[in-house]
Amino acid sequence: MSQTVVKNISLLVTNNPTLGKTELGLIENAALLIENGKISWVGAGESAPSAEKTIDAQGKAVIPGFVDSHNHLIFAKDRAGEFSARMKGQAYSAGGIATTVAATRSASDDDLLANATHLVHEGLHSGTTTVEIKSGYGLTTIDELRSLKIAKQLTDETTFLGAHVVPSEYKGKADEYVELICEQMIAQVKPYAKWIDVFCDKGAFTTEQARKILLAGKAAGLRPRLHANQLEQGDGIALGVEVGVASVDHISHFNNGDIELLKKSKTVATFLPAAEFSTRSNYPDARRILEAGVTVALASDCNPGSSYTTNMPFVIALAVRDMFFTPEQAIWSATKGGALALQRDDVGHLSVGSRADFVILKESSYIHLAYRPGVNLIGQVWQHGKRI
Ligand code: NIG
Ligand code: FE
Repeated sequence: MSQTVVKNISLLVTNNPTLGKTELGLIENAALLIENGKISWVGAGESAPSAEKTIDAQGKAVIPGFVDSHNHLIFAKDRAGEFSARMKGQAYSAGGIATTVAATRSASDDDLLANATHLVHEGLHSGTTTVEIKSGYGLTTIDELRSLKIAKQLTDETTFLGAHVVPSEYKGKADEYVELICEQMIAQVKPYAKWIDVFCDKGAFTTEQARKILLAGKAAGLRPRLHANQLEQGDGIALGVEVGVASVDHISHFNNGDIELLKKSKTVATFLPAAEFSTRSNYPDARRILEAGVTVALASDCNPGSSYTTNMPFVIALAVRDMFFTPEQAIWSATKGGALALQRDDVGHLSVGSRADFVILKESSYIHLAYRPGVNLIGQVWQHGKRI
């Protein structure tokens, strides 16, 4: 059985408060032991066990791999023109999704797989070791099914988002499309999806439609999560808590009542600051949610419309600079918070028995991820105990 020890770690973020200081479980001058793809020992460098292989972290920081819990990677073609128009003053709306739906429907499976694989690798090289992928640019039973079959080749965290927008062929007949989702699509896609999601917002689905879809998904054994209040203040957060979703995502708008509901629930609040960046929208006041003690995650929301990035260090930098997360809150939310948003206890932390998914940074502290924005600080990425 092969063992690898990682030594000479200046600062190790374990996200396990029983192992080290603060919520981040920080250990200075630390070491890690990896065995069979998992962490088998964590502690002070001077007590590190010896192993067949030794990796020298050269006095740099080590953090858990990022858990990017919100992505739309099954699509064809980009929307650079739409981004450019937006930067000249045009507003973002849910309507742009239709452009990508048309391109995705006419793309081959091979092209969709190649594009998604490229994006997953891009994320992996910037430290993302667990990624969630949604469907949602097919919007027919066949196209949603093939989107999820492709997504499933890349991750176990697959999400059925047939309720992304009402497709043009159902214009004026949204309830019929909701019927199609509930009566046909869910049963077909079920073997390939862990999650069900709905875009509950202006120009997408109403609260009532979203409730119906989430409950139908839940009844079929899919776990619910929700796009809520990205474009306007609505009942998305209340619906999410009512249905018991793992996470409400975007939440660019929320009120005091929403905070109270989240506080009493197990639902994670996932912020996607790269979407605010790319749609030139106001950042929500995340401090109010953080201070209320709600569990918070950060994710990239990679998609060709509202947030075309896979880069979690960029997301962390935005969260710290523009949303007033502390560097500690941001690193936790991008790792452990993402894991909780995906109801995973094997990733997002470095403890005995957790997956050996970690990043050796090129700097001596995680603070540099926000302090040195735009600079590639990812030294080595390890996934399932193997260097990628
Ligand atoms: O999460 N909000 C809905 N869906 C995506 C945007 C999709 C698109 O514009 O293509 C999002 O931001
Ligand atoms: Fe999204």
